[in-house]
Amino acid sequence: MPAGFQQLGGEVVTGTLALSVFTAVLGSLTFGYNIGVINAPQKIIEEDYNATWIHRYGEPIPSGTLTSLWSLSVAIFSIGGMLSSFCVGFISEWLGRKAMLANNLFAFAAGSLMGMSKVCRSFEMMILGRFIIGAYCGLASGLTPMYVGEIAPTSLRGALGTLHQLAIVTGILIAQILGLEMLLGSEDLWPVLLGLTVVPTVLQMGLLPFCPESPRFLYIIRSQEHHAKSLRRLTGRQEVGDMLAEMKEEKRRMDMERKVSILELFRSPLYRQPIVVSILLQLSQQLSGVNAIFYYSTSIFMKAGVQSPVYATIGAGVVNCAFTVVSLFLVERMGRRTLHMLGLAGMCISAIIMTIALALLDSIPWMSYISMLAIFGFVAFFEVGPGPIPWFFVAELFSQGPRPAAMAVAGFSNWTANFIIGMGFQYSSSACAVWTAGVVSGLLLASRRWSGHSQETPPVLPLPAVPCLPLKPQVSGQLQTDLQVGEGGRV
Ligand code: GLC
Repeated sequence: MPAGFQQLGGEVVTGTLALSVFTAVLGSLTFGYNIGVINAPQKIIEEDYNATWIHRYGEPIPSGTLTSLWSLSVAIFSIGGMLSSFCVGFISEWLGRKAMLANNLFAFAAGSLMGMSKVCRSFEMMILGRFIIGAYCGLASGLTPMYVGEIAPTSLRGALGTLHQLAIVTGILIAQILGLEMLLGSEDLWPVLLGLTVVPTVLQMGLLPFCPESPRFLYIIRSQEHHAKSLRRLTGRQEVGDMLAEMKEEKRRMDMERKVSILELFRSPLYRQPIVVSILLQLSQQLSGVNAIFYYSTSIFMKAGVQSPVYATIGAGVVNCAFTVVSLFLVERMGRRTLHMLGLAGMCISAIIMTIALALLDSIPWMSYISMLAIFGFVAFFEVGPGPIPWFFVAELFSQGPRPAAMAVAGFSNWTANFIIGMGFQYSSSACAVWTAGVVSGLLLASRRWSGHSQETPPVLPLPAVPCLPLKPQVSGQLQTDLQVGEGGRV
């Protein structure tokens, strides 16, 4: 083994692989940062919206208008994500890894708009900035798992794929901590808090030139021969003949097929089931309502009678990170499906406890602690499976040909559901917190049934076996190895 290389799960993690994964997930960090950043300073930013309104119209902003403006500021982020995630397919085919580099332009534009919105007395700039950073995140949520999935050795794909989610939750936590009023969440400094989103992007721009392009992309899509060099750098092996042969086989099969469009994914019986499973996984992730917590937890904790809602929000962020690390270690041992189902079941139970605790709050004051613990449990179970798994699972479910289109469809489903939760929660929570918690449990039960149903349907079981059946032309040779990974890689 070359000096300085580490052995993990029987695989060599080279410096180049570590650097490339780290650099790619900086995009996920920015994604997480922008999910968490508007949570703690909500009231302070709303006061600024009010000040702008008074400055323009000479009267305080009507409360309904303020609610709408704030909901829009939160949820337009997901509209940006929806639109751009739909373009992941063609952008990644057109630019390859460089798409991550180009995407950083969005982050710069958005950071500047949000950072300047206060001095310019313009909530429109803030809203536009949130839209553009949403577009950045939509692309990052497709490009990062795709790149990491393509460069990761088979037996580490789950663990390295989970790093995308780990970076997201770390970004959320950093934003929650920096959002404290004594740090950057103050009346004067909130624009700096929002503008800081450019920091990971600068780092990513500096590091990307040192990361190799995905060898699978170079060879299978671009038909370029120097993919072998990238492969040697990533694996640290001089002898990569077996991998090259496997890619060659995948390319041969792909060349025989028509190009896979989004429509084709639904029309062809070969892809229909994997794409339906991908969509359901994404919907179960988002409709669980987890983002209601990450966008609005401070006000949820306030309503639940928790005394220090901002610190409780940070507590949720810490639990979120800790359990993503747990998932990192479990994912290759326990398998994707078990963890996903376990997570959804646990979330469902936590949401029911939360509903009961909120309903009893008026008569039993210590129920506020129970509801806080239930929220922590909800987040913990989310990160065990439904948080990380849908992101990388879609990338590994499809071979090189249909993968970009599948990532676009899956990302679009995820962001659409994210938008619905982000926009709807603000209204329903002010109407009745108890009802919302009940709806979340209902959604969870439903999404558990969907996932359960789709995975128990015979042709989909075991999930990755669909694209792995030797007779199917869309087979990913890379995935075939999955079935033989044995103890290190259950699916
Ligand atoms: C996942 C979701 C994202 C959510 C995050 C919370 O990455 O896709 O929407 O905010 O988990 O940890």
